[in-house]
Amino acid sequence: MEFQNVIFNRKSIRTFLDEKVSDEQIYRLLEFGHAAPSAGNIQPWEFIIVKDEDNKKAIVETTFIGNNMIDGKPQEWILKAPVIIVVVANKQKSYERYGKIALETLIYLDCSACIENMLLGAVELGLASCYVSGFRKDELSKVLKLPETHEPIAILPIGYSNDVSLKRPKVKLDEIIHCEVFSG
Ligand SMILES: Cc1cc2nc3c(=O)[nH]c(=O)nc-3n(C[C@H](O)[C@H](O)[C@H](O)COP(=O)(O)O)c2cc1C
Repeated sequence: MEFQNVIFNRKSIRTFLDEKVSDEQIYRLLEFGHAAPSAGNIQPWEFIIVKDEDNKKAIVETTFIGNNMIDGKPQEWILKAPVIIVVVANKQKSYERYGKIALETLIYLDCSACIENMLLGAVELGLASCYVSGFRKDELSKVLKLPETHEPIAILPIGYSNDVSLKRPKVKLDEIIHCEVFSG
């Protein structure tokens, strides 16, 4: 697909067909993610691939709809995705080079670049996905049995979809462009 079509066709999709995604497709997605830029080329991302139904349920139990972290209902729609990729940051790798700023910002910036590559890559491969960060971090870490050195950054449900919904509108680009107004 032409690059600009990949960019403009990407949208968050939350419905999935009952159709498997091959390991080759998943591996290709990870290659896209792994090609992302990162501060100092630290590449703090790691990937956990989940297909087992019970494991998916355990992950979804840590999620919540909207911003109600405590009582919010789980994002059950995720269960329909045949594969879930959890993007995890290796905090230690980044901290060893950058110290505090690694934990405040860099791991999130790095992993988000990686995640966007995968979201765009999914479009190229004819797959659907959505960036999900509505989960209780500590609970998800426990479910995934992550060591202290690692932090979950995003859940990416992956699958095929026949979603034909309209793309969500964006604010007008011209309203957010500012041209050299700082003088004096
Ligand atoms: C950091 C981040 C966290 C998000 N978390 C969730 C989430 O927990 N659940 C969800 O359904 N969508 C989530 N989204 C998707 C947004 O709702 C979506 O990107 C936004 O509505 C714009 O729609 P679009 O992706 O189709 O352009 C998240 C997106 C980002 C960038």
